[in-house]
Amino acid sequence: MIGVFDSGVGGLSVLIEIRKALPDADLVYVADRGRAPYGPRSLTEIQRFSAEIADWLIDRGCTTLVVACNTASAAALEELRSAHPGMQIVGMEPAVKPAAVATSSGVIAVFATAATFQGRLFESVVSRFGEGRTVVTTACPEWVELVETGHVEGPMVESAVVKRVVPAIEVGADTLVLGCTHFSFLADVIGRVGGPGTRVIDPAPAVAAQTARVASITEGQGHLVFAASGDRDRLADLARALAGLTADEVFPFP
Ligand code: DGL
Repeated sequence: MIGVFDSGVGGLSVLIEIRKALPDADLVYVADRGRAPYGPRSLTEIQRFSAEIADWLIDRGCTTLVVACNTASAAALEELRSAHPGMQIVGMEPAVKPAAVATSSGVIAVFATAATFQGRLFESVVSRFGEGRTVVTTACPEWVELVETGHVEGPMVESAVVKRVVPAIEVGADTLVLGCTHFSFLADVIGRVGGPGTRVIDPAPAVAAQTARVASITEGQGHLVFAASGDRDRLADLARALAGLTADEVFPFP
């Protein structure tokens, strides 16, 4: 069984890709909506939440964990791996590596949360792969809020995207990295606002491919379970609306 978690509905963008890559795998998705957003919180606090969710998923029999949240990966991936050495733990890192290859202008824009930019993981990704490139960082807390409330298109979304993307384009960015799983649901609008000369990089398919490589799951019933802190019925509604996913069961978390 594969356990996948995020602060909210963002990780569903990764869950869709995992379902495509592993149609028969049994999946459990935890959305910590009651404590979302994680982006403005301290790394220590996010580490604690991530450890609680990981323990809960492991208690329920998960043998692979996917941290489908850049913020939780930035805060807690290393600690989770050292706390659970026997587990396969897949995390997210902002896709600076493919962006550095794809850019023609040499300017990459990364859109993520404030906490993701503070973590050591981001610093290390930029120093390993960003050499000779300019990396522009933009925190977009209002994008998280929009997706979390089911808004992924329309004038309100358009103007929130314009506000963050246009300044990056004006300084020469031609490659836009989605460094928060919520933002995958805004990819079409981001691409449209960026214009024809820009490319949007969403790491979700690569993370799903990595999950399929490490999970070593050959069979399952294709069962899907959701769990949420906060309003879990709302999670099920949003999962249907945003991701076309319907859970077989919905539990409270914790
Ligand atoms: N979806 C999350 C990420 O990938 C975090 C959003 C939030 O809770 O602030 O970073």
